[in-house]
Amino acid sequence: MAAILAFVSMAAMLTCCSSSAGNGHPVAPGAAVTTVHVKGQYVVMDNGIVRLTLSNPEGFITEVMYNGVDNLLEVHSSEPYWDVVWNEEENEEIFELIEGSQFQIIYQDDKKIEVSFKKKWNPSLKGKRSPLNIDKRYIYLQINSGDKSESSSGFYTYAIYEHVKGWPDFQITETRIAFKLRKEKFHYMAIADNRQRVMPMLQDRSPKRSQKLAYPEAVILVKPTNPALRGEVDDKYQYSSEYKDSLVHGWICAKPSIGFWLITPSNEFKSGGPLRQDLTSHVGPTVLGMFHSSHYAGEEIVAKFTNGEYWKKVFGPVFIYLNSDLKNSRPNFLWEDAKRQTQIEVANWPYEFPTSVDYLKKEQRGSVSGRLLILDKYISKNYIYGNATFVGLASPGEEGSWQKETKGYQFWVRANAKGNFFIKNVLSGVYNLYAWLPGFIGEFTYSTTITVTSGGNIDLHNLVYRPPRDGPTLWEIGIPDRSAAEFFVPDPNPKYVNKLYIEHDKFRQYGLWEKYADLYPTTDLIYQVGVSNYTKDWFFAQVTRFTLTGVYKLRVALASAHLSKLQVRINDPTIEPAHFTTELIGRDNAIARHGIHGFYWLFNISLQGSWLREGENTIFLTQSQSQTMFQGIMYDYIRMEAT
Ligand SMILES: *[C@@H]1O[C@H](CO)[C@@H](O)[C@H](O)[C@H]1NC(C)=O
Ligand SMILES: *[C@@H]1O[C@H](CO)[C@@H](O)[C@H](O)[C@H]1NC(C)=O
Ligand SMILES: *[C@@H]1O[C@H](CO)[C@@H](O)[C@H](O)[C@H]1NC(C)=O
Repeated sequence: MAAILAFVSMAAMLTCCSSSAGNGHPVAPGAAVTTVHVKGQYVVMDNGIVRLTLSNPEGFITEVMYNGVDNLLEVHSSEPYWDVVWNEEENEEIFELIEGSQFQIIYQDDKKIEVSFKKKWNPSLKGKRSPLNIDKRYIYLQINSGDKSESSSGFYTYAIYEHVKGWPDFQITETRIAFKLRKEKFHYMAIADNRQRVMPMLQDRSPKRSQKLAYPEAVILVKPTNPALRGEVDDKYQYSSEYKDSLVHGWICAKPSIGFWLITPSNEFKSGGPLRQDLTSHVGPTVLGMFHSSHYAGEEIVAKFTNGEYWKKVFGPVFIYLNSDLKNSRPNFLWEDAKRQTQIEVANWPYEFPTSVDYLKKEQRGSVSGRLLILDKYISKNYIYGNATFVGLASPGEEGSWQKETKGYQFWVRANAKGNFFIKNVLSGVYNLYAWLPGFIGEFTYSTTITVTSGGNIDLHNLVYRPPRDGPTLWEIGIPDRSAAEFFVPDPNPKYVNKLYIEHDKFRQYGLWEKYADLYPTTDLIYQVGVSNYTKDWFFAQVTRFTLTGVYKLRVALASAHLSKLQVRINDPTIEPAHFTTELIGRDNAIARHGIHGFYWLFNISLQGSWLREGENTIFLTQSQSQTMFQGIMYDYIRMEAT
């Protein structure tokens, strides 16, 4: 495409920073114009509020200028990048900065600029560069708010990944965008209403100032720059969030007042569904947009490309939003404003403005609607509304396969109180419909695949989910919701505290796995049905080393497993082989990373009459693998049914 470069004087463009609004960001007087200049090795994009400098042709962000600060990014950092972690065959993983070799202005007028930095693969790069063509895009906008044109306070980025048919087989473990902010400026981090705090600095994690814990990510702050933080644990995994809860996160600079936010308006391009967890922001100050990773999931979610298969996927766009508080520097004001902006971005999804034909617009997408009802005659003779059911479309596969699905797109919504759901803006393609809801074990999978076409609406009408059950509940432990949060979570060892999690999210504290052995030094915990209370007596994770009474069908739902084998024995704690044993299951590492769940597992165990006796019976649940302290399982729910 022919592009005309506008060489507008920068000075003229930057007479900003006086304000009319006071509502979050400085507004340039008069109508703002978006401009782009190429200056030798750099491409400079400007909209009168934010100036962005990118290296040419690599497409690394070297400068973000806003509110009088010439660079919000750490100048000597190599971090503001798109990257990919990949490997071919059995070779070691390679961390690759996605480096463009071809710069192009894709679109330019006063209202919008879109630029592209392409990385091209060819066979001479085999083994050295990921076998992918990647087109990184950055977009700048002028927006109309009411009858006035204003510049958008930030920029969008997205990328199109393509593996051409016949190119080498390989796998992708991780791909993301990362920003390293100015460390002397940004000290306050916010990832949720109740998860925000003054953070340590990067240097506080150095060996001189900290003490390493069981893995390199976790340290105790011994001599932090800010003495108020002395003695606390810092670990980036304590700031992980579920995708459904991490649409916005970032950092705040007090002087001058600046908020730097990463807004993810849709999770359609993320793998593993709405409960998948990943890193957000952490000490650095670092802001991550995680598009794909194996955190809290393990090997099973790594994207593997075999037989030279063709693959193309669009990650993003995400929005880098900058705001400021013109009156003061109230963190809460900036956080609330960032949340407001997130609502605007979500409402605008799918965006109209990305130029790539690979990013499909609203009219090119379809929708699927229906209603989910539950039938469980041991609970009610009537249908139960599937209130708040998670309903999703993902690649066809067996039950639960969406948890591990990563190459395609997923579209998840929650049904309303009557079980009605409407999944809009679905990319055309073939999907399975999956659904599950808190309060019931297992999940619903629609009987056939569903083909969504652009502009089409498919109404599936009433769908009935019959959760697994052979008889009435004799007893149960926990709540079937794919999380172990309702069980007993101990207080942390006083040596290992993160003050953010004293009142809530206690499971995010470091070192809780050590407490199991402290509490049960010789034998596993004993739980007496009808006497014990799971909120106090059932330890949330069974790590290295239980008594129940009852009869017949036992259903055990796990919220997480890491290199574990669950064995079930009835009445005889030593019988070999055990009455039931799983394979070696799970690599989600959720215990070490302070997740309250990883992947969901459901096991049905028929208890044979010959294993049982008159009167009291005891069930021994053993996690038999203990090569490292992080091996273990978390229970979601256990139920005994009469059959
Ligand atoms: C529906 O589910 C939501 C979320 O679990 C809950 O807050 C709400 O009270 C439920 N509504 C009804 C009518 O049961
Ligand atoms: C458990 O039983 C239900 C039906 O009773 C079935 O749908 C499910 O596949 C079973 N799961 C396993 C792991 O056997
Ligand atoms: C179990 O313990 C919790 C917390 O102490 C308490 O709120 C709940 O009422 C107890 N449940 C029963 C059935 O005693």
